[in-house]
Amino acid sequence: MKEITITTSFVEYENLNELDASSQKMMQLAILARKKAYAPYSKFTVGCAILLDNGKVVEGSNQENAAYPSGLCAERVAIFYAGANYPDAKILKLFISASPVDRDLEQPIPPCGSCRQSIAEYEIKQDQDIEIYFMGGKGKIYKSNSLKNILPFMFDKKYL
Ligand code: THU
Repeated sequence: MKEITITTSFVEYENLNELDASSQKMMQLAILARKKAYAPYSKFTVGCAILLDNGKVVEGSNQENAAYPSGLCAERVAIFYAGANYPDAKILKLFISASPVDRDLEQPIPPCGSCRQSIAEYEIKQDQDIEIYFMGGKGKIYKSNSLKNILPFMFDKKYL
């Protein structure tokens, strides 16, 4: 028997001002995208902005449903839109901001497990790492250099 240890790492930024100008702009788009969330049930808004290698920016927000599981997270709304409309483009960077409608969470909010699995699919498909930046409503931002850092030991097509 032996123990297996998996290590992971992130970059932490104190606030938006520490990001380079382009990443700041992208995160602002994710923050703005939260205003377009349809979240009458949870009142928790998530915005996502994706930068593609063709220069296009794709945004998404969470879209809820009275039949709760029929709703979809912001990250998957955005990434599926990118996959459907720009199937040959590579995803370079993904920015996420998440917070309840009535206040700004100050800690970084990571994407849920299903969104990580969906992002993983595209990172593997394009054979190029995706940078993932995530924050609450304000304050610190975490950056992961690859999806693998936030979903170590993932299930993927190699097991099929
Ligand atoms: N949500 C996202 O949009 N992304 C995540 O990664 C976590 C959760 C949404 C789903 C639901 O509309 C609300 O946040 C509360 O769970």
